[in-house]
Amino acid sequence: MNILDYAVKTAKKAGTFILKEQKKSLKVTKKGIRDLVTNADKASEKLIIKEILSAYPDHGIIAEESHSAKDLAKIAQAPYIWIIDPIDGTTNFANGMDQYAVSIGIFKTKSSKSSKNFEYLEGELIAGVVYAPALKQLYTAQKGKGAYLNSKRIKVSKTKKVIDAVYATGFPYKNKQTNMPYFAAILEKCRGVRRWGAASLDLCSVARGHFDAHWELGLQAWDIAAGALIVKEAGGQVTDINGNQLDLFGQDLFASNSNIHKETVQIFKTL
Ligand code: IPD
Ligand code: CA
Ligand code: CA
Repeated sequence: MNILDYAVKTAKKAGTFILKEQKKSLKVTKKGIRDLVTNADKASEKLIIKEILSAYPDHGIIAEESHSAKDLAKIAQAPYIWIIDPIDGTTNFANGMDQYAVSIGIFKTKSSKSSKNFEYLEGELIAGVVYAPALKQLYTAQKGKGAYLNSKRIKVSKTKKVIDAVYATGFPYKNKQTNMPYFAAILEKCRGVRRWGAASLDLCSVARGHFDAHWELGLQAWDIAAGALIVKEAGGQVTDINGNQLDLFGQDLFASNSNIHKETVQIFKTL
């Protein structure tokens, strides 16, 4: 079984588990003033990590609920790093909505070095899976091999101008207001803006052409690792908010169908 197939098998196992858990009474606790975590997030993450390490004991793992920044130097020595969000869209999940997913991105390491934001890893994303069990949507991508939804090839939209484009965005739990100038500027210039509450699925929606673009500030590597590769493999472009190379730990991201990338970045740069 290749590494993507194994990631898919693992994401499906976790997805089936969280779908069942959502129907039970969830134990919801707060990580921050607005940021929730449920017993299902923690159990899903444990299940995923156990599956990965049983097949790939020498691989590194960065996972939302158990990650600690000080582990990164050690993790960077591993040949591959699995970047995991056990439930992306926890607020939706806890409120009984369907818009949530298991997100697993696989990063092949070259070496690690320091960036201004954080310790970042040199290497590349080689595979990504986003599985939304309640929506019955399985998005997959492998570097150089295209992006798929439920095994059917997907492509980004062909929209050419910002005025004709539908954007998605999100707001971090902390510092929500930082996105307001971007939100106001894009809303003014485009056809519409949506906010669904699961960044991984926002990115997959760009990949399948439902959204023309997605931007967000205050994201974490586990929100975007899988989705960023899925967008690229669907023919899209993924950078930071200024149009520069994406830093998985840089916290901001702009993904588009490519055609509207430059025009949008110019709007962002005026802010
Ligand atoms: C959140 C979602 C949301 C985004 C937040 C993330 P979580 O992840 O992806 O769309 O706006 O910034 O933190 O907490 O549901 O895994
Ligand atoms: Ca997330
Ligand atoms: Ca999460």
